[in-house]
Amino acid sequence: MQTRPLGTTGPQVSALGLGCMGMSALYGTADRAESIATIHAALEAGVTLLDTGDFYGMGHNEMLIGEALRSAPAARREQALTSVKFGALRGPDGEWGGVDGRPAAVKNFAAYSLQRLGVDHIDVYRIARIDPGVPIEETVGAIAELVEKGYVRHIGLSEVGADTIRRAAATAPVVDLQIEYSLISRGLEQSILPTTRELGISITAYGVLSRGLISGHYTRDRQLAANDFRSHSPRFQGENLDHNLDLVESLRKIAEQKGVSVAQIAIAWVLSRGEDIVPLIGARTRERLTESLGALDVTLDDADLAAIEAAVPADSAAGDRYAAAQMATLDSER
Ligand SMILES: NC(=O)c1ccc[n+]([C@@H]2O[C@H](COP(=O)([O-])OP(=O)(O)OC[C@H]3O[C@@H](n4cnc5c(N)ncnc54)[C@H](OP(=O)(O)O)[C@@H]3O)[C@@H](O)[C@H]2O)c1
Repeated sequence: MQTRPLGTTGPQVSALGLGCMGMSALYGTADRAESIATIHAALEAGVTLLDTGDFYGMGHNEMLIGEALRSAPAARREQALTSVKFGALRGPDGEWGGVDGRPAAVKNFAAYSLQRLGVDHIDVYRIARIDPGVPIEETVGAIAELVEKGYVRHIGLSEVGADTIRRAAATAPVVDLQIEYSLISRGLEQSILPTTRELGISITAYGVLSRGLISGHYTRDRQLAANDFRSHSPRFQGENLDHNLDLVESLRKIAEQKGVSVAQIAIAWVLSRGEDIVPLIGARTRERLTESLGALDVTLDDADLAAIEAAVPADSAAGDRYAAAQMATLDSER
């Protein structure tokens, strides 16, 4: 497995991480046994970075990962690094209730995550969205205290803009920023990526397939449950969806010429952006995992990159990456 550094102060991690969210939430029903088999297969293939959030299925995702780690061979379990997001508040019906980044809450969230994961430390810990009522210095400072006590190894960030990145990094060492990055989500290239590069912070990129939209497998007639993220995501609606799937067909022509899949081209493009970029793959079956890992063997030369950018120019997607209410919570979009 190829590896990449997680910032200048973090560990080497597998060049692709496994994002486990879809195994518990947001993309319709997942099969528990297949989810665990997928985590085991990823570890077997040399994936070291497992990404989760305590609010993915209200603890479900962490308990799932905990079960997968317990049932994995010791050597595989020991290579696994957990990357955990916290802060999002939920209710018993699954409703979202804002964000809590107060220092006391940070410690409380961490205590529960350690139990659910069944580990004695979290490798990278980050607030999912900043709490507008709590300065980032206080939230990051609370994680730094957990680092001092050995409960957390490294500090990460999620969906924040350049100013917040600077303030956080001035408080304590930050290893990575988790943010959406794909052929059709390139907003970070303006000011965020130059800032992380200046400060020696890596990017763990999510939504590399734009939540399946540019995977080559998504079809116009797909039926979504009401609680599926995509049923209210602007890019998956009506004419926007038609336009975006036309972009995918342009990409498919390039993939076919190279003898690879659309998903592999899309993941390989993100991998090609730099050694400081680690794509998180949202596979929840072994079949999708195998396809994703195949992207590591795809080499894109200058002609390939030019053809890909011509097929899917920056800003060519129709629709925002989140619905308006969620966009408003993104420090990275200010
Ligand atoms: N920090 C944040 O704000 C944030 C936000 C969202 C996600 N994340 C993290 O990033 C991870 C990845 O995000 P994501 O799940 O949205 O990423 P993604 O890879 O863009 O989307 C995953 C979706 O793509 C589909 N897909 C089709 N072909 C695939 C293939 N070959 N490999 C993988 N998936 C394929 C999957 O569908 P089927 O399973 O139906 O086939 C799934 O619905 C999450 O698991 C989570 O840990 C972080």
